[in-house]
Amino acid sequence: MTTAILATNEIALARAIAAMAPADVRTGCRLIRDGDEAHLLPDEARSMPARQPAMRRASGAARFLAHRLLADAGFDGFAVLRTPSGAPAWPEGITGSLAHDDDMAVAAVAAIGDFGSLGIDVEPAQPLPHDLLPIVATPADRTGAVGEQLAGRILFAAKEAVYKAAYPLDRKVLGYEDIAVDLETGQATTSTGRKARLAYCVAPRVVVLATVSE
Ligand SMILES: CC(C)(COP(=O)(O)OP(=O)(O)OC[C@H]1O[C@@H](n2cnc3c(N)ncnc32)[C@H](O)[C@@H]1OP(=O)(O)O)[C@@H](O)C(=O)NCCC(=O)NCCS
Repeated sequence: MTTAILATNEIALARAIAAMAPADVRTGCRLIRDGDEAHLLPDEARSMPARQPAMRRASGAARFLAHRLLADAGFDGFAVLRTPSGAPAWPEGITGSLAHDDDMAVAAVAAIGDFGSLGIDVEPAQPLPHDLLPIVATPADRTGAVGEQLAGRILFAAKEAVYKAAYPLDRKVLGYEDIAVDLETGQATTSTGRKARLAYCVAPRVVVLATVSE
């Protein structure tokens, strides 16, 4: 894909995410650019040693977004460290989540209030590889009227987003079989008893935002 198309996608995706997210959730997306690793603050870079250059670039793009969203929320200059579990550490009273695919980084941040935690995932708007679908989907999942082409991909992104929201609350590693997703009602349930609300968009990329009550 050319850089011009990707840049157009960045604007379109920012709008799509903002439109689907709850009003009190700040969101952003960024096309991952050469040199984005430079957006890692020194403490952030130290918190993620021994990573591939592409991963550092993606994490830098996600941190660029997180810094901007946190500054808007009154936390200018806050370093979003990667904790040993992989989960990012947010300021007191704030929940947030990061994700990146090969080209795009996304971030979401909110004050802890109506919900206690949130999670986000971004995926290319392409069918999930056939060999992955049986691993991700379980009989408990419901995709309703969602087109067959992207249903598996949205399901995948939903489970990753729910996991990222649930992990900071329960500190429990979940598998795909531990999360039941209903795309028709926009709800998901974990084997640990958490209930998540889901919002998603599919163009120009699949992004799912999950919010979980405490
Ligand atoms: C969390 C996880 C699903 C992320 O998936 P991924 O495809 O590697 O990467 P994504 O781009 O979607 O997300 C990466 C971001 O997730 C966040 N993240 C990583 N581990 C996390 C955790 N335990 N809780 C919350 N967020 C986490 C980080 O912010 C990371 O970005 P960073 O490395 O720049 O800080 C994966 O790292 C993981 O821990 N998997 C184990 C459990 C699992 O896969 N279960 C099946 C899915 S339910």
